[in-house]
Amino acid sequence: MSDLTFNKIAGGVLLTGLVIFGLREASDIVFKKHELEKAGYEIAIQEESAGGGAAAADVPPDWNAVLTPANVAAGAAVSAKCAACHKMDASNANSTGPGLWDVVGRKPAAHAGFNYSGAMKDFSGKTPVWDYDALYLFLKAPGKDVPGTNMTFVGLKKPEDRIALIAYLHSLGSTLPIPAPRPVAAAAPAEGAAATEAAANPPTGEAAPAAGAAAAPAAPAAGGNTAPPKV
Ligand code: HEC
Repeated sequence: MSDLTFNKIAGGVLLTGLVIFGLREASDIVFKKHELEKAGYEIAIQEESAGGGAAAADVPPDWNAVLTPANVAAGAAVSAKCAACHKMDASNANSTGPGLWDVVGRKPAAHAGFNYSGAMKDFSGKTPVWDYDALYLFLKAPGKDVPGTNMTFVGLKKPEDRIALIAYLHSLGSTLPIPAPRPVAAAAPAEGAAATEAAANPPTGEAAPAAGAAAAPAAPAAGGNTAPPKV
């Protein structure tokens, strides 16, 4: 009887041990899975901030493609953020800030009757014209683009807000020409290289002229890409 009782107790202890061990194993598995999920999530966030996503998005757009009536309408709504300090009607009157009618294409710090900061006057030496790209940069963070400016406005982080606003400002009596469509970047050389490789692979007599034809358009395209930013 006592042996049987001992066996029962020992069996119970063993079983309890097994159950505890099993639970720990199970919780380990669950815990590890959670760790993996967290790690994956953190990496995704890091990629977003470190991978240049924001920086890449901040390259000014192809203005020829975005100065659309839809953006003019959206920009009119965004311009409510400027209205406390700027008049935007054709009277071009100054208030806290200079009148913004025809500002697109205007020389910085050049609106008659407005008392600009020294910072903005200095800026006009480096940036002769408020063109699309200059406004795109300035409106992102005025205090960073023109350190010491009197425009105490934090800026518009979202590229789409700035694009729409600039489309709207352009509609306000601006005579600055709309830039020509941007040539397709990156894709042209890639296609050219692929075509050259493809042409080079079959060693036929026609391969050489084909490669030459593919290489020829690539060079002018690359030249066209570098030309507009300089202008
Ligand atoms: C808190 C007031 C305030 C707000 C809000 C504000 N601005 Fe200004 N802005 C100014 C002042 C002041 C200046 C003159 C800056 C200087 O002299 O340094 C200025 C200058 C400018 C200039 C340069 C004009 C020129 O003649 O060189 C532009 C462009 C401009 N603002 C656009 C905007 C836009 C677009 C918005 C809305 C997104 C905006 N501002 C919001 C106060 C403001």
